[in-house]
Amino acid sequence: QIFLKERKHQKKIMDKLIIRGNADLKGEISIKGSKNSALPIMVSALLSENTLKLQNIPKLVDIKNMSQLLRNYGAIIKSNGSNFEINCKKIVNRNADYDIVRKMRASVLILGPLLARFGKAKISLPGGCAIGTRPIDIHLEGLKKLGANFNVENGYVVGKVNNQLIGNHIKLSFPSVGATENIMMAAVRAKGKTIIENAAMEPEIADLAYSLNKMGSKINITNKGIIKITGVEKFNKANHKIMSDRIVAGTFVIAAVMLNKKFKVKEVEPQNLKALISSLKEMGANIKVEKNIINILPSINLKGIKIQTSPYPGFPTDLQAQMMALMSLAKGSSQIKENIFENRFMHVPELNRLGAKIKVKKDVAYISGSRHFKGAQVMASDLRASVSLVLAALCAEGESEINRVYHLDRGYEKIENTLGKLGPSIKREK
Ligand code: UD1
Repeated sequence: QIFLKERKHQKKIMDKLIIRGNADLKGEISIKGSKNSALPIMVSALLSENTLKLQNIPKLVDIKNMSQLLRNYGAIIKSNGSNFEINCKKIVNRNADYDIVRKMRASVLILGPLLARFGKAKISLPGGCAIGTRPIDIHLEGLKKLGANFNVENGYVVGKVNNQLIGNHIKLSFPSVGATENIMMAAVRAKGKTIIENAAMEPEIADLAYSLNKMGSKINITNKGIIKITGVEKFNKANHKIMSDRIVAGTFVIAAVMLNKKFKVKEVEPQNLKALISSLKEMGANIKVEKNIINILPSINLKGIKIQTSPYPGFPTDLQAQMMALMSLAKGSSQIKENIFENRFMHVPELNRLGAKIKVKKDVAYISGSRHFKGAQVMASDLRASVSLVLAALCAEGESEINRVYHLDRGYEKIENTLGKLGPSIKREK
């Protein structure tokens, strides 16, 4: 059975996209729920004995993996399209194996809720991944402050709590998104008050807090990176609609600017994309923002700019690769400094294969502008890197072949269908 599973996985890895260049793009797209918000909110169901009903869950491989992980623990999950019902009344506290944790780093988020509910948890260490070492030291430091102890045994991190987690004042050494979520989910069931200082302020954190508060938690987020939590003992049944995916929205906005078309991105929360919109406007893009809509209009001349990625509200690292593809088309040179991940320039050689001229020195990419992409065979390396190749291929002369598309499927719902409906010709080959 393991052999068959592995063969199926290998076959999936072989999927590729054939993209015809000089693509058209017309009409509008409605953005679905955010992956990065849905994953921790699904995990938060582990805290409660009552059902958590969720709407607007995107149809993605990562969501499937998370459902599998929760089911391994005994969660009963009913899903109907984008509506999910998760019940964790009868949970068995077992190990989270390497097989699932390696596929999806967000698996480490079960640590906080399991420690809070059972006083112990054992999960495989996530290990290295394509975009850097991505340790979990900040998660563990924070959970230790709440009273947990950790040992590493045979590649597993084993956490134990003596009696109950106890609220504390925690200052994060870096505003890690995952660590903030993990600690927050532990603290809501701890005894007394917790303050998380230098917490991540990404909109997905606010969405998690909003959903947790509907379940009965007492979380108050101030806008200065401080989260105040008062622990509670009981959690109610709750109902929550996942926020719209700002990264997918931003990707489509960048696509329209690159293709220089009139296009509408709907069901977005533009206030979550301020850094992107102001950078695009600085480049000369013609963008008009309405309440839940971003309108992109053709622009005459785009010019290069300098940006750097930083924690929210700064420029998101998850839009860095897409922005780099756009910068290759703009006039003059551009620069991107990557401050969040240590090795997040793997799209550079692949974009160069498509005709870009980008050099990397340490954490800065230097992008020469006025390039013309030409169709080529390229290899996707991580989720956002893959989509930057799709964007470049759409603008290229001729046909491109993008290999290892499974990365893309983790964050974009069947892109050949969503984009294919809007003008471009994209075919998946198995
Ligand atoms: C989340 C997002 C991911 C996004 C990232 C940064 C999810 C499921 N994923 O990932 O799409 O790119 O935020 O916005 O929401 N770090 C440590 N020690 C730790 C934790 C993190 O050194 O304990 C480092 C990481 O290696 C990385 C940086 O901190 O260099 C940011 O990581 P973090 O904010 O934790 O990202 P994730 O939660 O993994």
